[in-house]
Amino acid sequence: MSIHFHEDLGVFHLQSDRSSYVIELVRGVYPAHAYWGRRIRDNRVGNLLERRGRASFSPTPFREDASFSLDSLPQEYPGYGSGDFRQPAYQVQLANGTTVTEAEYVRHRIYSGKPKLEGLPAVYTEQDAEADTLELELLDRVSGLTIYLSYTVMNAFDAITRSVSFRNDSKENITLLRAMSASVDMNHSRYDLLHLHGAWARERHVQRRKLSPGMQGIESRRGSSSHNHNPFLALLSEGAGEEHGEVYGFSLVYSGSFSAQVEVDQYETARVTMGLNPFDFSWLLEPGQSFQTPEAVMVFSAEGLGGMSRRYHKMYRTRLSRGQFRDATRPVLVNNWEATYFNFNADKIEQIASAGRDLGIELFVLDDGWFGKRNDDTTSLGDWVVDKNKLPEGLEDLVKRVRNLDMQFGLWFEPEMISPDSDLYRQHPDWCLHVEGRRRTEGRQQLILDFSREEVGDAVANMVRTILQSAPITYVKWDMNRNMTEIGSAALPPERQRETAHRYMLGLYRVMEQLTTEFPHILFESCSGGGGRYDPGMLYYMPQTWTSDNSDAVSRLKIQYGTSLVYPLSSMGAHVSAVPNHQVFRNTSLRTRGHAAMSGNFGYELDLTAFSEQEKEEVREQVKLYKEIRHLVQFGDFYRLRNPFEGNEAAWTIVSEDRSEAVLYYFRILSEANEPIVWLRTAGLDPEGDYRCVEDGNIYGGDRLMNAGLAIPAMHGDFQSFMWRFERV
Ligand code: DGJ
Repeated sequence: MSIHFHEDLGVFHLQSDRSSYVIELVRGVYPAHAYWGRRIRDNRVGNLLERRGRASFSPTPFREDASFSLDSLPQEYPGYGSGDFRQPAYQVQLANGTTVTEAEYVRHRIYSGKPKLEGLPAVYTEQDAEADTLELELLDRVSGLTIYLSYTVMNAFDAITRSVSFRNDSKENITLLRAMSASVDMNHSRYDLLHLHGAWARERHVQRRKLSPGMQGIESRRGSSSHNHNPFLALLSEGAGEEHGEVYGFSLVYSGSFSAQVEVDQYETARVTMGLNPFDFSWLLEPGQSFQTPEAVMVFSAEGLGGMSRRYHKMYRTRLSRGQFRDATRPVLVNNWEATYFNFNADKIEQIASAGRDLGIELFVLDDGWFGKRNDDTTSLGDWVVDKNKLPEGLEDLVKRVRNLDMQFGLWFEPEMISPDSDLYRQHPDWCLHVEGRRRTEGRQQLILDFSREEVGDAVANMVRTILQSAPITYVKWDMNRNMTEIGSAALPPERQRETAHRYMLGLYRVMEQLTTEFPHILFESCSGGGGRYDPGMLYYMPQTWTSDNSDAVSRLKIQYGTSLVYPLSSMGAHVSAVPNHQVFRNTSLRTRGHAAMSGNFGYELDLTAFSEQEKEEVREQVKLYKEIRHLVQFGDFYRLRNPFEGNEAAWTIVSEDRSEAVLYYFRILSEANEPIVWLRTAGLDPEGDYRCVEDGNIYGGDRLMNAGLAIPAMHGDFQSFMWRFERV
């Protein structure tokens, strides 16, 4: 059991393989945060919580103890209105209009395993022995609001998952205004805040800054996790870096609007709060009703950011992703989007697929444009019926032609959307998110279907189901190309309108659960204009995500590096595209494009038929090489070696779990005259082991490669790269 309750001390000790998290019941009723960090012995967990004795100008609930204030108590789940002026974790409005609560500990439960979250994605266990769960029950006696705080220790990953459920045990309505998944009061604020910021085609760029007094944080108000901010942040102790120092990671398993904030208070302690964005959110709890928050996954690493990332990678790869592709190597694919956009016919598709087969590619993906009258992006979303003008013999025939080439067939959908110019919209103009009497603002000429309504989700699921049943399709790209405006549902009463965005996510998760369960042989890849919904929520249903619409190899160095902070390489779609690149108009060599794309789930997104014989030969070699290393790329341990946000280079290595093989990548961005000599130290190898480098045939000691490093050969020209494979001898 990794959770111990010391009744004499009123202390809960949550202990993973390498970390401890300690909660102390102050005055028997306030669950307070006493410690989180390196593992400590269980018999020494008392007196960790320094009673600060600071209450100047802070209210004191107990006359006999004027030094006690909730305002300086590091609370596990702070409420609002009784003396803590910092960010609350939750807030409700009671039937009498007031918003004050004070929830107190009533009882707890400790058990092995981890319960499922009703209707929400979450980390899971395969055996109860992998995790233990602590449930703290709190009650606001005045209102009858019960709050269950749930903590699961995922032993092997030094992770604690947290979520909260609320139950209205009163006879009157209670409205949730704020319901965060986790709140952690760190006992000082000498940390750097790191998060992933970006925009369409420039996702997940790493940002790092010192915490300073006041509020700082990130959020999405877009109705999806967004390109703009990823639902993740980390606190880094002073001096912590890639492979050293203490790092605390916070990641939210949710795909909608979120908030992740850090408040540095008057005593210079830092409160981290993460969960559903309270902005434009409320949820009515009628008597007897409950509400479940999404899950936050918190990871502690004493081995820097790299240690944190490897824990997230393994956990999200093996205990968040599901289905038969979780542990299966992924096919090399060719996608026709950047090759043809909307302009294709069956012959063209067959030619690309046939060229792909000759080069060793395993899966052809037909992207946007195959349905309705979809010759551009102004029309037909919602009409999921094959376009007989482009594919006169139908989809089934095309799939047959591609499969006859011995290639698998994949298909693009954008199920959550509706074009105003569609039969579906003409039949059901109220099926989109909208507010009666207001403009319906379009994004990419489309509106969003109201997935908060079960009948809408069911109708869409049926259309997708019909297509998937009509032919042997083994891959689906599930796209979503705009953010929410005029968030309102025709099916909800006025007092529930602010539930729409979250109900949408619940409805979407329901449909995704259904379809991914019904079609277990289909590999699903999520996408939102590239990486606009690259979050753990999506990975629960779909083990891959299209990382970015920016397919330029140099841009991808930063995007993939940033993405790797949290997400495993097995989740990153990475394709070689044409030059000049369609997003940044840059020319890079096929080799460099190959190396960047071989750092994820490899594929091509260009017209293979346009390649010269020489280029085809190079592609053939790339595909062959990737097939040799893909088990490593997709399931190995990832180490970042050079940070493209800090200079002119990027480097990383992937090492098999048993350290018997590795692959090392180095990228140099701009060339310099008389360039400096570069030695690159690698990581993760067995220092006692000897490794043969497949590329140069030399035998190197693991210790030599990690301590002295490898000299990077001279390079000429911009955007150069190298890749080496090592095999233990
Ligand atoms: C956005 C995606 O990110 C692209 O890869 C492509 O599928 C287009 N949508 C198609 O409209």
